[in-house]
Amino acid sequence: MIQKGLKGVVAVETTIASVDGEKGELRYKDLLLKDVVEQQTFEAVASFLWEIDEKQVTRLLVEGRQLGFDHLFVLKVLPKSLSIMDQVRTVVSSMGTPELLARSLKEQAVLLTGALAVLTAAAYRIQREQQPVTPSVELPHVANYLYMLSGSHPTKSEVTALETYLITTMEHGMNASTFAARVTVSSESDLPSGLVSALGTMKGPLHGGAPSGVLALLDEIASVGSVETVVMNKLQSGERIMGFGHRVYKTNDPRSLVLREACKKLSGEERWLQLAVEAEKEITRLLALHKPGRRLYTNVEYYAAAIMKSIALPSELFTPTFSVARSVGWTAHMVEQLENNVIFRPESVYVTSVNDFAP
Ligand code: ACO
Repeated sequence: MIQKGLKGVVAVETTIASVDGEKGELRYKDLLLKDVVEQQTFEAVASFLWEIDEKQVTRLLVEGRQLGFDHLFVLKVLPKSLSIMDQVRTVVSSMGTPELLARSLKEQAVLLTGALAVLTAAAYRIQREQQPVTPSVELPHVANYLYMLSGSHPTKSEVTALETYLITTMEHGMNASTFAARVTVSSESDLPSGLVSALGTMKGPLHGGAPSGVLALLDEIASVGSVETVVMNKLQSGERIMGFGHRVYKTNDPRSLVLREACKKLSGEERWLQLAVEAEKEITRLLALHKPGRRLYTNVEYYAAAIMKSIALPSELFTPTFSVARSVGWTAHMVEQLENNVIFRPESVYVTSVNDFAP
């Protein structure tokens, strides 16, 4: 039987994370996400997922950020009209040097994660005719990312908000981009190539490209003044409501709950957050009424948009910032794939189309 979109097909065993769509639980290894997020840093959670000593991760992230900075010459020759995702993906293509590939797989994982933050921040600045900011050797990863974007030191609450988001989205089992990364390295290709596949997959609106769609949705709701009118127009024209629905979660996405709580503690965009919370209730009601049995709730992207809006990250940075976080999960999965590799090679069924083209 064909499983379109590989729905429900289990393709790998993993020790990195588990997702229970019925209970609405995400665990990093054995720990529930909500317990991981409390009081943790990007470095600590990433070390836990990669299974590398935290001090070594901190040291390798500094080296990785320098590696990214050394590749900015590639970024500078690309058309400024390319999206940040396209720019970063293209530079990562140039990173599979013999020197990088001579490092252990786990070291490559950390180095590429460090580099990605620098490339993202630099691509954003170059697009705006600004000089890239040299990464700080002192600042931790999240504060460094914000510093490289703006050129000034971020506030504690900005760092906390973004760190919560990055930890929450670091890893999520066999999602489309992680799967793409694992498929690529399963041919015994290398980590930079897998990262290119992951970035290319991430940018689509059905995956990591949704948060800017959420922002557009909420803007439209605010200007029209009615959730029902906006949502019904979209449903009637066959459009999806961005930030709702998930392949695995058939109840609340636990990441959405963590981010909703984090949003409530933030200040700066209260009116906007209030709109998001109120719209969520009404959209959930309308989807239950008009898409009965589909069990559509907010996914991570809905409140991701709210968090990023509240720290004034522009929408073109939403998906790239998601990738800065998910690079941890992608690389952890690629290492896991290569440590016990079987090449992915599913089958297809041929269905004739000859009659359609016959004269
Ligand atoms: N709005 C309206 N209807 C929806 C939505 C939605 N957001 N999501 C699913 N549905 C409906 C579909 O139209 C379909 O209805 P039908 O039976 O009448 O045809 C039914 O629910 C099942 O949809 P599928 O596409 O089969 O569900 P799938 O599990 O493949 O899709 C997906 C999951 C892609 C996330 C989907 O819910 C979606 O497109 N959501 C909007 C985009 C989005 O927010 N993406 C971010 C996901 S989180 C992430 O990737 C990090």
